[in-house]
Amino acid sequence: MDERILIIGGTGLLGHYLVNQAKDMFKVYSTYLTHKPKNEEINYYKLDKRCPSTVKKVFTQIKPNIVIDASVYGTVEYCETHPVETREVNVYGTINIIKECYLNNCRLVFISTDWVFDGNASRLYTELDAVKPINEYGKQKAAIENMLSFALENYAIVRTAVIYGWSHTVRRTNYTEYVIDQLKNRKEVKALINEYETPTYAKSLAIAILALSKTTYCGIFHVVGKSCVNRCELALAIAEVFGLNKDLIKPATLSEFNFVAKRPRYTCLDTAKVQSLINFKPLDIHTGLTLMRDETNGHN
Ligand SMILES: NC(=O)c1ccc[n+]([C@@H]2O[C@H](COP(=O)([O-])OP(=O)(O)OC[C@H]3O[C@@H](n4cnc5c(N)ncnc54)[C@H](OP(=O)(O)O)[C@@H]3O)[C@@H](O)[C@H]2O)c1
Repeated sequence: MDERILIIGGTGLLGHYLVNQAKDMFKVYSTYLTHKPKNEEINYYKLDKRCPSTVKKVFTQIKPNIVIDASVYGTVEYCETHPVETREVNVYGTINIIKECYLNNCRLVFISTDWVFDGNASRLYTELDAVKPINEYGKQKAAIENMLSFALENYAIVRTAVIYGWSHTVRRTNYTEYVIDQLKNRKEVKALINEYETPTYAKSLAIAILALSKTTYCGIFHVVGKSCVNRCELALAIAEVFGLNKDLIKPATLSEFNFVAKRPRYTCLDTAKVQSLINFKPLDIHTGLTLMRDETNGHN
């Protein structure tokens, strides 16, 4: 327990699971921006990535060995409509973190997305495939991925997708919670059929990220669930596992939504690399959703 881990964005959906899983493995420090949790076991520091002097101060105080950046600002749609504002955090703010990792000689694990790909493949994407983002969110992530390979020697990029689990702040409800709420309130869910991804249970993702953070492996790692599904198939699985009414789920195509950001059609990821390196076992959506449902500290 001598290693000190700093989790940036520890109050987010993934961040919350990272903090909880890390506390038996490391001395854990977490940052928050707007929501300071009431968890006295963890040292929380207020940090805005955009402010280099605050970032420097937090690094100087904590002296972390490992940093996980699980923060993000804005949804995919918000990034598209507010590119300058979101780049300030997601690109320039992240550069402040990279700089301090370089100066303090710490390992950085950066959380990226399946949406660095254009979605035109007809097979699972591997870490060797070329990135070609088609929206602003993907471009921001790809910019940092590219920079990391030049800036640091000790880093890992973890690409993941459609994270599900219980969110412990009011900031952003994830897709699974949205579907549960809608169905519980007997409201319809319009679910996309022409966009495929590999949804990922937050707890299993957090365990894999922490395992990777303890290694010296450098480069890109795909960490996602096993099922390559569209949102309609995911919504149906949610209804099944949570015992909700499937008839309220209505299949829909992209043209029925007014999304501003372009959306890749197929970005399912191959996890063979990470399975062989850290004994990661990707979960199918039924298994992951059942584990989520049965979490003792969940909201159900
Ligand atoms: N959710 C998904 O389905 C998904 C899919 C693929 C990849 N990812 C990536 O996985 C990571 C975690 O996503 P998530 O859904 O868990 O995020 P989230 O729930 O939206 O949480 C975002 C976190 O970022 C923090 N934050 C926002 N602006 C900040 C700033 N200026 N400085 C420092 N911290 C700031 C927030 O702090 P406060 O809450 O305290 O304000 C919060 O802790 C992100 O990198 C995301 O891009 C997510």
